[in-house]
Amino acid sequence: MTGAEEREPLVLPVLPLKNIVVFPHVLVPLGVGRPRSLRLLEDLAPGDRTLAVAAQYDEQVEEASWDEVRHIGTIVRIQHLLKMPDGTMQLAVQGVERIRLARQTSGDPYLVAEVEPYPEEPWDDEPAMEREALVRTVVTTFQQLVAIAPYLPGELLAAAMSMEDPLHLAYFVANHVRLSVEHRQDILELAGPREKLERLLGLMGHELEVLELGRKIQSQAEESIGKSQREYFLREQLKAIQRELGEMSEEQAEIAELRERIEKAGLSTEALREAQRELTRLERIPTASPESSVIRTYLELLVSLPWNVSTEGELDVVKAREILDSDHYDLDKVKKRIVEHLAVRRLKSDRGSDERHREPILCFVGPPGVGKTSLGQSIARAMGRKFVRASLGGVHDEAEVRGHRRTYIGAMPGRIINAIRRAESNDPVFMLDEVDKIGSDWRGDPSSALLEVLDPEQNRDFRDNYLDVPFDLSRVMFITTANTLDTVPPALRDRMEVLQLSGYTEEEKVQIARRFLIAKQLQAHGLLPDEVAFGDEAIRMIIREYTREAGVRNLEREIAGVLRRVAAMIAGGEATGTIVVDAERIRDALGKRRFFDDSAERIDRPGVATGMTWTPAGGEILFVEAAVVPGKGELRLTGQLGEVMRESAAAALSYLKTRAAELGVDRTRFEENDVHVHVPAGAQPKEGPSAGVTVLTAMASILSGMPVRDDLAMTGEITLRGRVLPVGGVKEKVLAAHRAGIRRVLIPKRNEVDLDDIPAHLRQELDVVLVESIDDVLREALPDLAAAA
Ligand SMILES: Nc1ncnc2c1ncn2[C@@H]1O[C@H](COP(=O)(O)OP(=O)(O)O)[C@@H](O)[C@H]1O
Ligand SMILES: [Mg+2]
Repeated sequence: MTGAEEREPLVLPVLPLKNIVVFPHVLVPLGVGRPRSLRLLEDLAPGDRTLAVAAQYDEQVEEASWDEVRHIGTIVRIQHLLKMPDGTMQLAVQGVERIRLARQTSGDPYLVAEVEPYPEEPWDDEPAMEREALVRTVVTTFQQLVAIAPYLPGELLAAAMSMEDPLHLAYFVANHVRLSVEHRQDILELAGPREKLERLLGLMGHELEVLELGRKIQSQAEESIGKSQREYFLREQLKAIQRELGEMSEEQAEIAELRERIEKAGLSTEALREAQRELTRLERIPTASPESSVIRTYLELLVSLPWNVSTEGELDVVKAREILDSDHYDLDKVKKRIVEHLAVRRLKSDRGSDERHREPILCFVGPPGVGKTSLGQSIARAMGRKFVRASLGGVHDEAEVRGHRRTYIGAMPGRIINAIRRAESNDPVFMLDEVDKIGSDWRGDPSSALLEVLDPEQNRDFRDNYLDVPFDLSRVMFITTANTLDTVPPALRDRMEVLQLSGYTEEEKVQIARRFLIAKQLQAHGLLPDEVAFGDEAIRMIIREYTREAGVRNLEREIAGVLRRVAAMIAGGEATGTIVVDAERIRDALGKRRFFDDSAERIDRPGVATGMTWTPAGGEILFVEAAVVPGKGELRLTGQLGEVMRESAAAALSYLKTRAAELGVDRTRFEENDVHVHVPAGAQPKEGPSAGVTVLTAMASILSGMPVRDDLAMTGEITLRGRVLPVGGVKEKVLAAHRAGIRRVLIPKRNEVDLDDIPAHLRQELDVVLVESIDDVLREALPDLAAAA
C-alpha cells in the first residue's frame, strides 16, 4: 500500500432499503423482514457489524437487483440487533460515511458490491459569516418546525443547536424532518454541507407552510377535513417531488399558463396587482377546494376582458348614412338625427373637446320590431365597432348591473362587464335594452347604478362588485332602447336624446319585407333569390292573416317559416325551378289563418263600442262593453280600470242622464237599473281618459238599444260639460285600427295636427272623423239614434 487513496477495494453486502435513506452520523432503527435481507444479516461474521445500505428506486420491488438500487448509499454499523418472534429483525444502525457502489460482485443470495468512499465536499473557502448565517437560519427554521410539527419532539432542538459541524447538522435535520425518499436521497447526494443546508431550508420552508395551512384549515373546519387534508398533504408532497425532479404538475402547468395569460392580457395596474395576488393564493390552496375554482373563474374573467383591445373604428359620416340606408327602409327622420349625433360626436373627439360628458345618450323609443336593435347594429357597422346588447328587462337587483361581491357564493359579474367581455373590445357600441323596465321591480338604486355606467365622467372607473377593480367604460358608445318613456326614471331620461320610432303601416311592411326581410331570410336558409318568387300579395296575406303587430318581428318570423318549408322542398327534391309562394304554400307552411278582421261582428249588438288604445307594444283596438242589470241607478265597472277611468265613466253616465230625453231613454231606466261597464285588459291604466268616448258610446248604445256603427273605432277624452279633449298616441292608435281592418276612425278635432304623422297612403284609405263634442260623437257612432231623433 502506497497511500491512503489506494485502500484495498472494499467489498460489502448491500442491504436495499424500501422507504428510507440512512444518513452518515445518524442512528436509525430499521426493520428487516425480506428473506434475502435476513439471509444477509445471518451471514455476517460474528463481530462484523459493517454493511452498506442503499435506497431502492421503487419501494414495491421485493428483490431489488443491482440496477434497482441507487448507487449512492451509506456504510452503516449495526448497533443493536434484535430477532423478533416472527423471524423478522429489528436493528439500530449508525450511519458512518457516504459511499458509491462501484461494481456488483454478487447478486445472489443477496447483493454484494465493491464500494468506494464518496466524501462530501468540504466547506472552507467561504467567509465564515456566511456559513454561520446559513447554519443559524437552518436551526431557527428547524426550531419553528419543532414548535408546530407534532411528530418532532422538543428535545431535538437542543441537539440541533449543539451541533458544531454543518454536515452533521444537515444530516441530523434531514433525518428528522418529514421528507420524501427522493428528497432524502437528494440530500445525501448533494455535494457538500452548504448545498445540503440550502436545500433543507427550502424543504423546511415548504413543510412549514403546509403545517401552517393545515392548522388553519383545522381550526376552520375541524370535523370535515380528515381525508381531504391527508390528500392535500400527499398532493403537496407530490408537488414538491415534482418540483425537485424538475417536472411540472398539472396544476403548476395551469398556473404557469394563467401567469402567462395574465402577463399578456394588458391588465390595468390595479387589475394586475389583484391578479397576481389571486394567483399566489391559488398556488397555495388545494386544487380540489371550492375556493380554488372560485379564484380560477375570477382570473379567467380578468384575462378575458378587453383591457386594451379596441377597434378604434373611425366614423365616416357619409358612409354612415349609406349604411343606415342599406339596412333600413325609410325612417328618414331617425336616420338624419343619428347621423347628426354621430357627426357631433366625431367633431368633438377630433377637437379633443372635454365636453363629452354633456353629450346625451341616444335612446330609441318605440314598439317591438320597428328596428331599434337593428339601427344600433348599423351604427356599430358604420363606426367599425363591435356591437353588444344587454337587456335590463326582468332585472330585479342592482347587483345584476354591477355584479355580486366575490365573497358571495356563486357570485358573478354584472350584465355590463359580461357584455364587455362578449364584445372582446373596450369601445363597442353597447345597446342597453328595455331601460323602461328597470324602474318597476328593482332592488337597490337602479338609476344611480345606470347613470354611473352612462356617465363618461364616472364610467372611466366603473367598478363591478365582482371584478373589484375599475374598468374603463369611457370609450364605449352607449345606446338605450325602450318601448315607452313613461317608466324611464327621470334622472336617466334627462341624459338621453330620444328618437321616437313608430309602428309601420301595412304598405311600409310590404316594402320592408320585399327589400330587406325576404333577402335576409333567403340568405339565412341558403336559398338563391331566383329559387323563390315571393310576391307582394303573399306578403300582404302573411301580414293580415298571420300577424298583428306594430313592427315587423313576427312578419320576419313567418317569412322565415315559409322559406324553411321551401328549403325543405328543394332539399327533398319535391320541387324544381322557381318556387312560387302563393296562398296555398303559405297555408301549407304556416297553418290556419290566425287573425281575422272580426271587429264588425264583435260589435253587431247594442252595448259594444270599439276603442283605440296605446300600449308600449304599439297600438291596439279594444271592445268596451256595457250592460244594464236591475238595480238602483249605480255604475259598476270591471276589467282594466284606473281611477281616471272611473271618473270618466261616471262623467259619461251623468252626461247621458242629462240627455235622456234626446236619447229617447226613459229616465226610469236609469233609476231602476245599474249600468255595468267592462273594459278589457290590455288598455293602459293611464289611457283611462282617452277611452272616455268609447265608454260613453257603449253606454248610450245599451241604454238606447241602438247598435254602434260597426266600422268605427274611436278615441277621445270627455268632460262633464260634453266636450271632447285631445289624447296622445294618435298615430299608433290609428295604425292599430287599420291593422284590424277598420277604415273609419273618430278622433278629437284638436288632434288634427297628429294626422300629419300618418303616412299619406294610409290617410287615403281612412275616413277620419274629427269631433269636438259628445253630440258629435253620438251622431257619428249611433246613426240610428240620430235618425230616430
Ligand atoms: N325600417 C326597417 N327596414 C328594414 N328592416 C327593418 C326595419 N325595421 C325593422 N326591420 C327588421 O325587423 C327585424 C326586427 O327589428 P329589431 O331591430 O329587432 O326591432 P326592435 O329592436 O325595435 O324590437 C329586424 O330583422 C330588422 O332588421
Ligand atoms: Mg330590440
